[in-house]
Amino acid sequence: PRRDAWLAVDGYLADELVGHDPALEEAVRRQNAADLPAIEVAPVNGKLLHLLARIAGARRVLEIGTLGAYSTIWLARALPDDGRVVTIEAEPRIAALARENLDRAGVGSRVEIKLGRAAEVLPTLAGEEPFDLVFIDADKESNTIYLDWAARLGRPGTVVVVDNVVRSGRIADAGDEDPQIVGVRAGLRMLGSDPRFDATALQTLDAKGWDGIAVALVV
Ligand code: DHB
Ligand code: MG
Repeated sequence: PRRDAWLAVDGYLADELVGHDPALEEAVRRQNAADLPAIEVAPVNGKLLHLLARIAGARRVLEIGTLGAYSTIWLARALPDDGRVVTIEAEPRIAALARENLDRAGVGSRVEIKLGRAAEVLPTLAGEEPFDLVFIDADKESNTIYLDWAARLGRPGTVVVVDNVVRSGRIADAGDEDPQIVGVRAGLRMLGSDPRFDATALQTLDAKGWDGIAVALVV
């Protein structure tokens, strides 16, 4: 199908089911104004994360990769008042913008931003209560490291979502050896073979183009 056809469908679905949301739209505006890449999840995808957190009855959510906190806001809104999102961001400038966006959206008190490289921050979370949902959306080269920590910091029943697992079909092109693509493939292989997970993945076609998400259960 032509790009304008599936974009129209995405817009239609978003209009019918997601609607307009000033806080989320302002967060994206500020992210764009700061010249950050427009790689936040699409509205229909943000709402999926929100619904998965509610379906799981999540109280504690871990997000790896904050950016402008668009998905963080969606996740934080899914939690009860005593719920918590811990989100990891490597860049101080981006973390500061995320903090502003979270506070403006009224969910700041429910979100803790951990500044640092996720591979270094994750081990520091090991003593805490297990996370009920983990959203992995950072440097794709490290997906297997993040999945390993998702299993360790979760519990049986924890929901794990990995963003960007299709990348316009590049994952199925064996000749594509881009490190990010290789990282995505390694993560999918782990989800299919590591006994700690039961998983599937779906292709997505939305405002962000052709991509996909993996959804896993820690068993
Ligand atoms: C890229 C990264 C993302 O997390 C995303 O959602 C889209 C694109 C990227 O690095 O290109
Ligand atoms: Mg992403």
